[in-house]
Amino acid sequence: MPLKPNIIERFLINRGMVPNLLIDAGMSIFQFWALIGAMEIGLFESLDQEPGDTPALAERLDVSERGLETLINALEPLGYLDYSNGKYSLSTAAERSIPLDLLQDMVPFLKEQMMEYEDVARAIREAPEDGIYGWEGVKSGEVGHSYQVTMRWLASNSVDEVVKKVDLPEEAERMLDIGGSHGLYTVEFCRKYPELEGTVLDWEIGLENAQETLERNPGMRNRIDLIERDFEEEELPSGYDFAFLGNIIHGITPDGNRELFGKLARATTENGMVAILDQFAGNSGSKFARGVAGLLGFNLFLFSGGRSYPFDTVTNWLQDGGFSDVSLEKTRQPGFSLLIARKS
Ligand SMILES: C[S@@+](CC[C@H](N)C(=O)[O-])C[C@H]1O[C@@H](n2cnc3c(N)ncnc32)[C@H](O)[C@@H]1O
Repeated sequence: MPLKPNIIERFLINRGMVPNLLIDAGMSIFQFWALIGAMEIGLFESLDQEPGDTPALAERLDVSERGLETLINALEPLGYLDYSNGKYSLSTAAERSIPLDLLQDMVPFLKEQMMEYEDVARAIREAPEDGIYGWEGVKSGEVGHSYQVTMRWLASNSVDEVVKKVDLPEEAERMLDIGGSHGLYTVEFCRKYPELEGTVLDWEIGLENAQETLERNPGMRNRIDLIERDFEEEELPSGYDFAFLGNIIHGITPDGNRELFGKLARATTENGMVAILDQFAGNSGSKFARGVAGLLGFNLFLFSGGRSYPFDTVTNWLQDGGFSDVSLEKTRQPGFSLLIARKS
């Protein structure tokens, strides 16, 4: 949750009459570490079980009172915690938005990614093809698992809305979830369309995540198959009426995308349809939404050489693959939009 300046503070910030650098290069980073600290010591989970004052919480969490007090002083004004009758509790916004069951597992990826970004100036100077982090870092091990857990959390915020917004043709029988990871989208599409069967395609580590989802949804096991494949290095399986790409195109280069869209054209049936959930660069939308899309794009540039692409660029790639009738719709999550295109 961002710092919330009042109207006078906003006025001063917008006119550069306060040291903005202190807010952007200082406060944002301190906020990141305060959150990581809270996640690592289990503060949110503890408050979810029972509100408490600082001494009681420090004892429960086995941390120093001084450390906890300074952490709480940072998190309360941000809106994560409420304070009443001498006790701290989770705010309603924190209760709604913090994935308590996933927090601990998300930490290794969030931390490691930030450490790697110290080479940012080189990235801007040289624009390395694979960014400065690279996909290898999340293909296995603790960080890979942590990355997948983070993707599960991100998707859980938008899966219901996205699946509601996408209407498949009556006759659609097979869908392909490219880089489908947890497979939450495939499961929800299959729930919405009882005749639909799905394929989640990812690396091994992504499919482990999908397997977890299938274990929680045993009724879907015979309708969803998992294919381990590299969608950049290999051809896609074919015969799909519908393909879904959630947060995929922002993670690959323009050349990689052009190639992927060619494969997508071959993987889909003659009336095939595609839905792309991503962030699109451009001038439309609120400054907040454009900021989210812009910052995520920059993050992906550092991460793997990707970015948020303009709608027109993606439309051209789709048209080259024989898709037309391209539309773009915003989602509830600022900066995230849903593009839909059809072949006929
Ligand atoms: C940003 S996540 C998106 C996950 C999911 N589609 C969503 O929207 O929540 C990207 C996924 O694509 C997978 N991935 C990235 N590059 C890949 C490649 N070349 N081949 C197969 N899977 C890949 C990653 O393992 C990860 O699960």
